[in-house]
Amino acid sequence: MKIALLGYGKMGKIIEKIALSRKHEIVLTIDHDNLHDLTPENLQKADVVIEFTMPASVLSNIEHCFNAGVPVVVGTTGWYDKIPEIKQRCEEGNHTLMYASNFSVGVNIFFHVNRLLAKMMNNYPHYDVQVEEIHHIQKMDAPSGTAITIAEGIIENLDSKSEWVNVLTTDDKSDDETVDANQLLIESMRIDSVPGTHTVIYDSEVDSIEFKHTAHNRNGFALGAVLAAEWVHNKKGFYSVEAMFDFNS
Ligand SMILES: NC(=O)c1ccc[n+]([C@@H]2O[C@H](COP(=O)([O-])OP(=O)(O)OC[C@H]3O[C@@H](n4cnc5c(N)ncnc54)[C@H](O)[C@@H]3O)[C@@H](O)[C@H]2O)c1
Repeated sequence: MKIALLGYGKMGKIIEKIALSRKHEIVLTIDHDNLHDLTPENLQKADVVIEFTMPASVLSNIEHCFNAGVPVVVGTTGWYDKIPEIKQRCEEGNHTLMYASNFSVGVNIFFHVNRLLAKMMNNYPHYDVQVEEIHHIQKMDAPSGTAITIAEGIIENLDSKSEWVNVLTTDDKSDDETVDANQLLIESMRIDSVPGTHTVIYDSEVDSIEFKHTAHNRNGFALGAVLAAEWVHNKKGFYSVEAMFDFNS
């Protein structure tokens, strides 16, 4: 498969390595210093585009891919309030887009079990729940897209929670934040060089249950993005990464 990479930062470089190891070809690489190469003609050399850039550039990059008629896999986070609009544009124009707040297979298993666990915890209302996420200090968005997906999975399934609120700290000290009973606290911590750790904590007076995913490096996200490109490149429509997994069989 011929792949175009939009964004050649930490993720773009690992995606390139994994794509080459899976016998794909990188036909275009765009970063902030060669934006003039981002033309429909260049994009059309690719079977699929993989986009890992920044919240400020992701929407215009999606637009470039739609205009060039090339399927796009979007890993950039921090734009999810625009999903309904982009979904509509994608479907009306018969385009192809797959996005994920987290492409790692392990995290998608975590998302699935998180929803099942939240549903089950309706029977145990003496537990309160919160989400903690830790990332490297360069991360631009807080809470992480992954933490938002986790929080939404809880809110959709646990009757006592109806919205999430976020508190950001720049150290590893968990503050004792108080929120309303219907609010789900997402505590975001920024610590040097942590690729991504997410914990769901159910706490009662007598004990705590912690459900945790720890990324050891970025390779899992990158492999998931390449698998997504392989899965989506000859399909039409707007997909979330869950479409790629079949956890119910
Ligand atoms: N979905 C996932 O699985 C997943 C996993 C890890 C990171 N991310 C997200 O991916 C994004 C990138 O992460 P990263 O760690 O590679 O960041 P990074 O800062 O290392 O790299 C981003 C790159 O994009 C480039 N860039 C900026 N504007 C651009 C534009 N208009 N066109 C092309 N390139 C442009 C920057 O120069 C930089 O090299 C972030 O939003 C991050 O949260 C998602």
